[in-house]
Amino acid sequence: MSNKEFTSKEINPLGSLDEWEDDLLERYPDPEKIATAKTTEAYRNYEEPARDTVREFYRLNHTYQTYDFVMEKQRQYLSFDKKEMAVWDAFEFLNQLVDDSDPDTDLDQFQHLLQTSEAIRRDGHPDWMVLTGLMHDMGKVLCLFGEPQWAVVGDTFPVGCAYSDKIIYAEFFKENPDYNNPRFNTQYGVYSPNCGLRNVHMSWGHDEYIYQMMKDHLPEEGLYMLRFHSFYAWHREGAYDHLCDDHDRAMLKWVKLFNPYDLYSKNPEPPDWSKLKSYYTDLIEKFLPKTLKF
Ligand SMILES: [Fe+2]
Ligand SMILES: [Fe+2]
Repeated sequence: MSNKEFTSKEINPLGSLDEWEDDLLERYPDPEKIATAKTTEAYRNYEEPARDTVREFYRLNHTYQTYDFVMEKQRQYLSFDKKEMAVWDAFEFLNQLVDDSDPDTDLDQFQHLLQTSEAIRRDGHPDWMVLTGLMHDMGKVLCLFGEPQWAVVGDTFPVGCAYSDKIIYAEFFKENPDYNNPRFNTQYGVYSPNCGLRNVHMSWGHDEYIYQMMKDHLPEEGLYMLRFHSFYAWHREGAYDHLCDDHDRAMLKWVKLFNPYDLYSKNPEPPDWSKLKSYYTDLIEKFLPKTLKF
């Protein structure tokens, strides 16, 4: 299935990638904001039609993320032969993704990464977790390689087995050809009981891509944070335990620890980069090679 078959509305159903994340905040509001009697309205104030675009986004995502689609994207991207960039150039490249319709914040992708990593650092977590925060959405460069939004962001889920009804808009999976394929539509599908998530193929998106890019450079806990940060059906809803092994269950707490930093660190004030640059230069040098392959 090539992208050419999709119309521009099917490639970019959302006004911006952030619409998906804003919708996540509606589903999983910041407990601290609730405690202080502020509502998620503080985060978003756009009108109903935006919600329709999120719905359409999930319809496309659930319809087209088949097992075969995921295999094709793995072949296409996991050879990392598209581009090679110094880490700082990669952040600039990512920032070409401009969201002009986001009502919440004019901050670019890099500011979200920096706010996430700074929130992690403020709480005294280890440096590898700070770096995980800094890198976690780098995979969104997939959009710049021409991938449709629904193959870059959105909740992720296992392909090749029955879909959990805990996945947002699960009713749209009826449109997915795998839904009626006996190879893929049983509880375990192509997998076996408690086979471990390492043996499971997730829907294609920015999580899997950045995980594969970082897998030789970060500790296992950080790699789980990267690979599964959008797997809400697992880390927020408790689904798919039947595919997990004890290692996954041990790692789940790290994925849960990471999630609030991603969701709730957005702030209209950009961090003072001049004060931070030397810390992050050292951090990147400690863990990452001089260039990253895309
Ligand atoms: Fe993300
Ligand atoms: Fe994020």
